[in-house]
Amino acid sequence: MKLVKHLANLGYGSRKQVAWLFREGRITDVDGEVMYADDTPTHDEIRIDGEPLDPAPGILLMLHKPLAVTCSKKDPGGVVFDLLPARFGLRDPALSTVGRLDRDTSGLLLMTDDGQLLHRIISPKSKLPKVYLATLAQDLRGDEVACFANGGLMLESEKTPLLPAELEVLGPREARLTLHEGRYHQVRRMFAAVGNHVEALHRERIGGLDLGDLAEGQWRMLSEKDRAKLFASD
Ligand code: URA
Repeated sequence: MKLVKHLANLGYGSRKQVAWLFREGRITDVDGEVMYADDTPTHDEIRIDGEPLDPAPGILLMLHKPLAVTCSKKDPGGVVFDLLPARFGLRDPALSTVGRLDRDTSGLLLMTDDGQLLHRIISPKSKLPKVYLATLAQDLRGDEVACFANGGLMLESEKTPLLPAELEVLGPREARLTLHEGRYHQVRRMFAAVGNHVEALHRERIGGLDLGDLAEGQWRMLSEKDRAKLFASD
């Protein structure tokens, strides 16, 4: 791929803007030697204003999603892309969220530009566990563990029953729920089906991957080791 297109696809500007970066001598090799648009370096050899490039396509990152931002591309109230470098929203292939968390849900959100990887994570076939911490408006009744575990729970306007899910009761109004699929507003709808209401929801883990010490609103690229952790329970 031509260098100008490669940089434009990483979000460094339109092809015209990137061509200007070359003319201004801002694109160099690791030793500061100016590069030209028809040079053929590898991705890792390129510097812009002395800085290495953002990672090449095939990225997977995790974000600690705060409350009150949405997983869409645009929303006047704020979107998850606002928490990433602006360039990330301009990449081609595009970066997208791996599934969604509601505006009022916080926690672990994955984002990738790799369609196959995205599919592998969200596919019902992979059954990757997703673990949520829920705070409820009313005391648990006592039958929820059995009700969620039996694999027969039918949510309104769904055609097939839910897969078995594990509920761990942590307190009268506090529970940890592990799902192996991802249906629309699933956790909230499951608790509504047993006469309760979710007041606060936080995703702690996907597969074997948790947020570690990543603070709310922060993100980081995932390494090969993280990816292995993610699929450890595959
Ligand atoms: N289930 C929900 O109800 N909301 C989320 O954000 C994720 C799972």
